[in-house]
Amino acid sequence: MRIFSGIQPTGKKHLGNYIGAIRQYVDGQERAAASGDESLFCVVDLHAVTVAYDPAELRERLYDTTAVLLAAGLDPSKCVLFRQSDVPAHTELSWLLSSVVPNGRLSRMHQFRDKSGAQRELVSSGLLFYPVLMAADVLAYRADEVPVGEDQREHLELMRDAARDINRRFAPELGPGEGGKPGLLMVPEQRTPEVGARVMDLQDPTRKMSTTGGSVEGTVYVLDEGKALEKKFKRAVTDSETEIRYDRAEKPGVSNLLEILAASKRISIDEAVASMADARGYGDLKMAALTAVDEELAPLRERYAELRPDVAALEAALAQGAARATELAAGTLADVREAMGVGVPRAFSGARPGA
Ligand code: AMP
Ligand code: TRP
Repeated sequence: MRIFSGIQPTGKKHLGNYIGAIRQYVDGQERAAASGDESLFCVVDLHAVTVAYDPAELRERLYDTTAVLLAAGLDPSKCVLFRQSDVPAHTELSWLLSSVVPNGRLSRMHQFRDKSGAQRELVSSGLLFYPVLMAADVLAYRADEVPVGEDQREHLELMRDAARDINRRFAPELGPGEGGKPGLLMVPEQRTPEVGARVMDLQDPTRKMSTTGGSVEGTVYVLDEGKALEKKFKRAVTDSETEIRYDRAEKPGVSNLLEILAASKRISIDEAVASMADARGYGDLKMAALTAVDEELAPLRERYAELRPDVAALEAALAQGAARATELAAGTLADVREAMGVGVPRAFSGARPGA
């Protein structure tokens, strides 16, 4: 089982990123190793240039994100942790994939519509092309599984269709790449956690917690601590009842707190509800969620403080990952070039299939 995921080096990472994605990476790193395969985690700096950004800032945020991933438990001796732009195969494959991705579909993607609406000046063509690059990230490694939050569903569907269309059009004889069958490219599965696939903003629990769209007071950052963290939970928006039960539609605030509590303690929603049987009110639920989050994140904060200042060590870890990722992607790219009829034919290059 090969696992791949990507994360943007933009903004500060929040509890939604942590519960929905980062924690699943650490779990994926162990599961891939146990299956005798590899896991890859990529900090996607090329995706970050699709909206307005500052180059110096991008470098800093890339180190922040890398340090958060390491602090959360990704271990470069167990997984391949790398920077997207260090492996040119991603951009090359995205161009090749563009041959089967309809332009109309890209312009109808939710993220494109939201983000292009939010751009005050330029809507870059990179923003439109974002999902194609994301498809290439995963397909270059023939990954089986992609741990991400619920919000990535549309991107995953496009990726799966791109793999199917390339296979059908250019290499039907190699198989469909799904249902346990081989193929030129593999059609990957999305993996979202059962609890916490969509963590909501504490101030507006009908909106997902987000770096860009949400409220500062309603967004819990993984590095928040002490009073600042406490304030966010204490001020969390609930409802005018008193009953603690899980009901996303009727009680979004309380349900979100229950989900955060359950995810942080690694228990089910039912168990989280049961643990609140003696609560005197929503205040107790807020305190329970706060305590659980604080306990879960305290070790991460400590390790982050140790790791982040040593940029040379972060670069060394990324370089090690880039070397392995380059090796793994080269085989896929050689096969895709051959199937699509671009570049030096295999008969002349001396390359072996899959090499
Ligand atoms: P990003 O920071 O946009 O690169 O997102 C990194 C990962 O976090 C992706 O897998 C997202 O699906 C996931 N994610 C982002 N926001 C949330 C949220 N509010 N709840 C759960 N997962 C999320
Ligand atoms: N689009 C993803 C997000 O916003 C980030 C991403 C880029 C990604 N490439 C990926 C996620 C490949 C999974 C696999 O969170």
